Amino acid sequence: MSQKIQSLSGYYHEYQKSIHQPEQFWSRIAQGFHWKKPWDNVLSWDFEGPEIKWFENAKLNITENIFERYLFTHGDKTAIIWEPNEPNEAERRISYSELYEMTCQFSNALESQGIQKGDRVIIYMPMIPEAAVAMLACARVGAVHSVVFAGFSSTALADRIKDCKAKMVLTADGNFRGTKNIPVKAVVDEALAQTQTVEKVIVYQRTQTAVEMKSGRDLWWHEVIANEPKANTAATLDAEDLLFILYTSGSTGKPKGVVHTTAGYMVYTHYSFTNVFQYSQGDVYWCTADVGWITGHSYIVYGPLLAGATTVMFEGVPTYPDPGRFWAIVDKYQVNQFYTAPTAIRALQAYGLEPLAPYSLDSLKVIGSVGEPINEEAWHWYHDHIGKGKCPLVDTWWQTETGGIMISPLAGITPNKPAHASLPLPGIQPLIVDAEGNELKGNNVEGNLCIKFPWPSMLRTTYGDHKRCKETYFSTYPGMYFTGDGAKRDHDGYLRILGRVDDVINVSGHRMGTAEVENAINEHPKVVESAVVGFPHNIKGQGIYAYVICDLEGRTEEGLIKEIKETVRKIIGPIATPDEMQIVPGLPKTRSGKIMRRILRKVASKELSNMGDTSTLLNPEVVDQIIKGAGLAP
Ligand code: PRX
Repeated sequence: MSQKIQSLSGYYHEYQKSIHQPEQFWSRIAQGFHWKKPWDNVLSWDFEGPEIKWFENAKLNITENIFERYLFTHGDKTAIIWEPNEPNEAERRISYSELYEMTCQFSNALESQGIQKGDRVIIYMPMIPEAAVAMLACARVGAVHSVVFAGFSSTALADRIKDCKAKMVLTADGNFRGTKNIPVKAVVDEALAQTQTVEKVIVYQRTQTAVEMKSGRDLWWHEVIANEPKANTAATLDAEDLLFILYTSGSTGKPKGVVHTTAGYMVYTHYSFTNVFQYSQGDVYWCTADVGWITGHSYIVYGPLLAGATTVMFEGVPTYPDPGRFWAIVDKYQVNQFYTAPTAIRALQAYGLEPLAPYSLDSLKVIGSVGEPINEEAWHWYHDHIGKGKCPLVDTWWQTETGGIMISPLAGITPNKPAHASLPLPGIQPLIVDAEGNELKGNNVEGNLCIKFPWPSMLRTTYGDHKRCKETYFSTYPGMYFTGDGAKRDHDGYLRILGRVDDVINVSGHRMGTAEVENAINEHPKVVESAVVGFPHNIKGQGIYAYVICDLEGRTEEGLIKEIKETVRKIIGPIATPDEMQIVPGLPKTRSGKIMRRILRKVASKELSNMGDTSTLLNPEVVDQIIKGAGLAP
């Protein structure tokens, strides 16, 4: 099944076909897959509803396209190379045949434990191959997985369990991350004390940490699989049956469950993986993301496995036991394609070149970036010192909602311009609009990024709340999908993503709604009101700056700030902890009571020029007080 674009002219040719005859284009791409029944219609769509259906009425199982399709040709090939947190612990190499058996066995166990097609299963697991097995086993039986990043708190986990009415949770006894062993099972126990729907918890033994096992509810992974056969027939699913829900932050306080369905997601993750990374059989590919994020779903698990690739999965963190860890792994497995986030690059760049010295990195052919805009300095460091100036750097722009990479160079095929995601993939029709939604044509334009035509892996709804999906993505500019990002088309016609234009901040490549963090801060009993904004951060891209009005009685400022930060960690998780917190006497508000975040952003960025007219505020005096409190007073 060759879908790989081989040249720049080939790219333009495919792109034109994909725009002028999208149905024929995707139909041709999709033919390479294994369908239990072909589709009646390639696409029906309406962005008003929105209602989008790809490969209508086709029947398939995505895991058959990973396993049955390949077993005869490369069952012995390594599917997953797993590198543990501790460098001296043995790695695991799992072949396609073995992964097939593990998936079948665990999917049989899921069914024996009462899971049926359509049931929601939460996966709250470390970065171990069993996390991938859990996802694939759900897909095999037609259950809907929802992976929750194992760094989220019990409250955040409980919210997600409640929202999707999950029937089962899959977890582990502990999670090794650097020097830590995070007690994930205990977090699950706390979450389940707040929820009603979960009937069974299956616990994988990874760290040998003592955990409480609630009788009748909690089961050991190794025990539930013990007597299950290592083969089965995959469930027959409809093209539009739900494959997974993944919760992500938006401008409102409550994370939303982005819904992805089966066939379109399969076709697009495979297509984009193959083309962006120019994966060739025999290559070793490594994406450093966590399976708890969309990047882990599409480009550790589904995309690479659908392509019959060897995908590396790393349990640990980039700086443990030392900041050369990533490079040691690249050399150890002779990684050919390496895909990471700008925040990791900047963090490692801060250690200088010494940690790189023992490693050759000669195996690398392609390096990639995802999750946030990559600044030029980090781009050059990555390109020069990791890619040794010879590897194309694919700056891949996409989102949880898009399911797959949308705008990116195709490695070595389309041009590589520092800090530019550059050109759309075939099938993707981006446009830049002004505030009124008028398309800004031509080059040298800047505005909001929208997409005007459906693509196979786009979200279909937000779980349990279709209206929210419509309002968030399809109402700002009717007839278009609005990304929430600003973008610029430069004089060469290449796209550069400028970052979020809504109340979402991007902290170390993780999306955080300002309202979500404010809600968590406001849970502290001494807090009266708060406002959260992003500010430029050397390593994280953006940091979280919180302005808090609170009752200090009986507390020191320092003590209270510590308590409030702890509250946020408890309610969301460590990733949402504010980097800066300032206790303020008031927040700048308009006469209608709206917080003037623009002013707060300026102060947080320590940039006091162009503050604008503050005299029309309800409480203009507060601005000076805030500036003074931030230590910026002249
Ligand atoms: O602002 C964009 C930024 O990350 C957001 C999507 O976040 P999430 O759904 O968590 O998915 C991250 C992994 C795909 C986008 O709205 N973003 C992602 N990739 C890039 C980026 N910004 C600039 N350049 C990128 N390459």
